[in-house]
Amino acid sequence: MKSTPNKKTDLIVRKNRELTAILEVSKVLTTSFDLDKNLLSVISTLGSLLEMQRGCVFLLDPLSGELRIVAAHGLTKNNIEKGKYRIGEGIVGRVLEKKIPMVIPNIGEEPLFLNKTGSRPEKDGISFLCVPIMLKNEVLGVLSVDRIYSKKQGGVDDDLRVLKIVASLTAQFIKLWESYEEVEKEKEDLKRALKGKYSIENVIGRSDRMQEVFEAIHRVSPSKATVFLRGESGTGKELFAKAIHYMSPRSKGAFIKFNCASIPEGLLESELFGHEKGAFTGAIASRSGKFELANKGTIFLDEIGDLPPTLQPKILRVLQEREFERVGSEKTMKVDVRIITATSRNLEHLVSQGKFREDLYYRLNVIPLFLPPLCDRGEDIPVLIDHFLKKFNQENGRSVVLDKSALQVFLNYNWPGNVRELENTIERLVIMSPSEQVSASDLPVSLSIQRPKSSGKSTSLTANIGEIEKSNILNALEKTGWIQAKAARLLGITPRQIGYKIKKYDIEEKVV
Ligand SMILES: Nc1ncnc2c1ncn2[C@@H]1O[C@H](COP(=O)(O)OP(=O)(O)OP(=O)(O)O)[C@@H](O)[C@H]1O
Ligand SMILES: [Mg+2]
Repeated sequence: MKSTPNKKTDLIVRKNRELTAILEVSKVLTTSFDLDKNLLSVISTLGSLLEMQRGCVFLLDPLSGELRIVAAHGLTKNNIEKGKYRIGEGIVGRVLEKKIPMVIPNIGEEPLFLNKTGSRPEKDGISFLCVPIMLKNEVLGVLSVDRIYSKKQGGVDDDLRVLKIVASLTAQFIKLWESYEEVEKEKEDLKRALKGKYSIENVIGRSDRMQEVFEAIHRVSPSKATVFLRGESGTGKELFAKAIHYMSPRSKGAFIKFNCASIPEGLLESELFGHEKGAFTGAIASRSGKFELANKGTIFLDEIGDLPPTLQPKILRVLQEREFERVGSEKTMKVDVRIITATSRNLEHLVSQGKFREDLYYRLNVIPLFLPPLCDRGEDIPVLIDHFLKKFNQENGRSVVLDKSALQVFLNYNWPGNVRELENTIERLVIMSPSEQVSASDLPVSLSIQRPKSSGKSTSLTANIGEIEKSNILNALEKTGWIQAKAARLLGITPRQIGYKIKKYDIEEKVV
């Protein structure tokens, strides 16, 4: 007679455990969007709270039409890999096909039980419960557990009821996870599409700032428009000048580079425009100048801020008319050239000091492109490091890599010499490093010196460039009656870019 109160207590204990298990499962399923981790926790919860020995969640792979185990408790890795079923195959496959739960009271006596995983060497006495994971009428997978029934531990019906609830909670989670994954994937795809949208061969730039530059380069390259590249030393002005040329319809023509600061003033004119025999002492033969050599191609006038005032009107004439005369000749020559100029100097300042002609400045400034300093686009540093490591490792037959600590030093440093300094640093490391694995302690001490960031309050070129850019935008807006799209067109940038810059520089229309 003692058994009745005991049975009751057992029943209450059992019900309590069931409720706890269901509560635990619903908690587990809402902790994260990690499918494997959550499903494994579900199975483990069933194992620990309801004495279900082995458990598996199978999900249907819509592509292969196969059920595969995504979470398992009490199975080895090897068991898991073997556990694949087709629709209709074995008990698991049948539950999926028929969309109804199945119970095998003793798997030892059931020929349909395939034991594919091989996880039950001793099949006798084990019951197998299997329920479909369904939402509305769609079957997503199957949940199965093994159970050894003793008198105390509840019956098959109790277990099935619990399993059905758990399967339905799991189904809701899987659906939620699927839509979460879809959104995440879309986000990733969009990000990747945006990141990779503008690329230029051998030029690295993932950051938004560089992507803007890339976009502008793609827009201006096909035209013949004069481009004015601005940026600190080592930011890639020459690299972009070449890129514009090679991406333009004149790519088959010559790319002629000329540095206006490189030779004495007296020789500049003949270098640029050529000379006739006897034009000056030492002119023993006539010679073509850079403009002639660049005919049908591009001329890149670097350090244009150093162009002496005597030569400025001549360059202005070429810009306007594409005409000039060789030194010592009166014959006018006509050329078909695209002109790209660059400077790291504050040209506006030179204009205000009267050292640079204002009319020439405006002629050059048709499409100004500002190349941001490296410290303003830290996101590009790791990619540039990879790019240069690859290049110099290949050149030197080495396989030098930077460890995390070294990378951190590179990220913290301000790179006053910009990409050129980074490039040189990597080249030195690849050549000089005794070991192939470089860590922070192997780096030159100079790299750990923290200089003030250039974008702060300073008189640095970056700050100046910001001011210049702001005043250019203001000018353009004023000229176009504050119509952003028109101003953008005038500046050779997109309406989106001008919008971004207006926000960045806090530009507001003055109400007079
Ligand atoms: N975005 C980039 N991706 C790959 N390499 C780059 C990039 N920017 C610059 N470099 C490399 O850095 C070095 C310096 O670039 P570049 O000579 O074009 O700079 P610059 O602005 O003309 O400098 P300076 O004003 O000192 O003449 C070059 O070797 C160039 O190939
Ligand atoms: Mg240069």
